Amino acid sequence: MLKKVLAGLGAGALLFGLSACGGDGDSGEGGDDALVVGFAQVGAESAWRTANSDSVKAAAEAAGVELQFVDGQQEQEKQIEAIRNFITQKVDVIVLAPVVETGWTEVLTEAEQAGIPVVLADRGIEDADEALYTTRLGSDFVAEGHSAGAWAAETFGADTDFRILELQGTTGSAPANDRKAGFFDELDTQGVGYTIVDSQSGNFTAEEGKAVMETFISTYGLDDIDLLYAHNDEMGLGAIQAIEEAGKVPGTDIQVIIVDGSAAGFQAGVDGKVNYIVECNPAFGDQLMDVVAQVANGDEVEKFIAVEEGVFDSTQFEAELPNRQF
Ligand code: AHR
Repeated sequence: MLKKVLAGLGAGALLFGLSACGGDGDSGEGGDDALVVGFAQVGAESAWRTANSDSVKAAAEAAGVELQFVDGQQEQEKQIEAIRNFITQKVDVIVLAPVVETGWTEVLTEAEQAGIPVVLADRGIEDADEALYTTRLGSDFVAEGHSAGAWAAETFGADTDFRILELQGTTGSAPANDRKAGFFDELDTQGVGYTIVDSQSGNFTAEEGKAVMETFISTYGLDDIDLLYAHNDEMGLGAIQAIEEAGKVPGTDIQVIIVDGSAAGFQAGVDGKVNYIVECNPAFGDQLMDVVAQVANGDEVEKFIAVEEGVFDSTQFEAELPNRQF
């Protein structure tokens, strides 16, 4: 369906000679010559996700790419259905942000057989299916876990048994698996003594994060808990509410680490309720359009392209808050 040779073009260059994408981005209007991209997004579970969808839609429009956007509502079946529709439509490139790591072999084989390249955005899939996608552009979630673990080791290293509650992301998702693995690998490597009091999924949402934290509190209390490690801002913010409702002071009575770096997360940091923020950067739309153009053109690309991100402690929250984009 690609109707124009894209040799050597990046996203900026795609503008040249192609009509601009208009509308709300749900079905782009790139014109007859546009590169057609089907994007099976995870859902709208967090501020991070909304910012990521906005970034991709804006970049597609700026690049003159016709974007077919599908919100998977955190359901793999919906994403699989979307991919099958993209195949039927003969899009040029399929972009998939997989809600979980496993279960993609069949549908991605169908894409391969149809000759449509697949680019993973944000999350990854299991190694066994590595041949079924061209590249992944997104965060190094293991590194994010290591960053969180390094701060915890520095903060609690002298304690021979600090006690942790963990709020994991969506069960089976790459960020949940990797943020957990990186975090505990860092603590183990540093030889820090700790106890995982409990670790449950809050599905990356504030509501579920709060509900799980309420269960933690009624089961264990908070007097013997040192650290809450929440795999994203929403779950952390939901848990903070539960901690406050239990009469405790988040950030003081219990240290809190969150991952993402939304404005709401930083505000909680400024308010003293969060102690450490590991950034996960959703604003990679322009970079994604560049990658998609290269893949459509048959160019060689790296198997994994990492987006840039940082870490922030309490001395940096106030200065950084105005810079937050989501
Ligand atoms: O895959 C990235 C994660 O998904 C973000 O950390 C989280 O907020 C989102 O739901």
